[in-house]
Amino acid sequence: MATTQNKTAASRARSGRKRRTSRRDPLAITLLKRDHREVEGWFDEYEQLEEDSDKQELFNRIALALKVHTTIEEEIFYPEERGDVEEDMLDEAYVEHDGAKKMIAEIEAMQPGDEFYDAKVKVLGEYIKHHVKEEEQPGGIFAQAKKGDEDLDAMGERLQARKEELMAEMGADKAN
Ligand SMILES: [Fe+2]
Ligand SMILES: [Fe+2]
Repeated sequence: MATTQNKTAASRARSGRKRRTSRRDPLAITLLKRDHREVEGWFDEYEQLEEDSDKQELFNRIALALKVHTTIEEEIFYPEERGDVEEDMLDEAYVEHDGAKKMIAEIEAMQPGDEFYDAKVKVLGEYIKHHVKEEEQPGGIFAQAKKGDEDLDAMGERLQARKEELMAEMGADKAN
């Protein structure tokens, strides 16, 4: 009996070790991190822009990407990670998404030439950077999700499909 338990513990330790040293992220995490890098790049790019029309166009792209990304996290990733990720951390993530959406709506109601427009875009970028850190840092939401029970490769397929759907829907809304 004791031998069996020892064996189980040993194999569990082995697979645990393997998982920790694995460099490959499961698909869901790869996709969400890719979105993060893309939008961070756009916030950096924004700082170099001078023309109002360029600023407007890039901000529209940032806003659409953030709306789609927060929606797929809220519809699929966060709810399915309840149980694997600390409750408080997930609750805070939803609240931060709401904060970001309010800031986006405020900026959308303005014109690039308006006072504080650039400042608001910059502050939104910093806010997003903070939120992304909470998701990606050691012990953060993604790290806890990777240790959990969900099949994050299969979830990645669903995240991607829903993202494509939302990009088409929300992107079309904007054009109308
Ligand atoms: Fe995210
Ligand atoms: Fe998020």
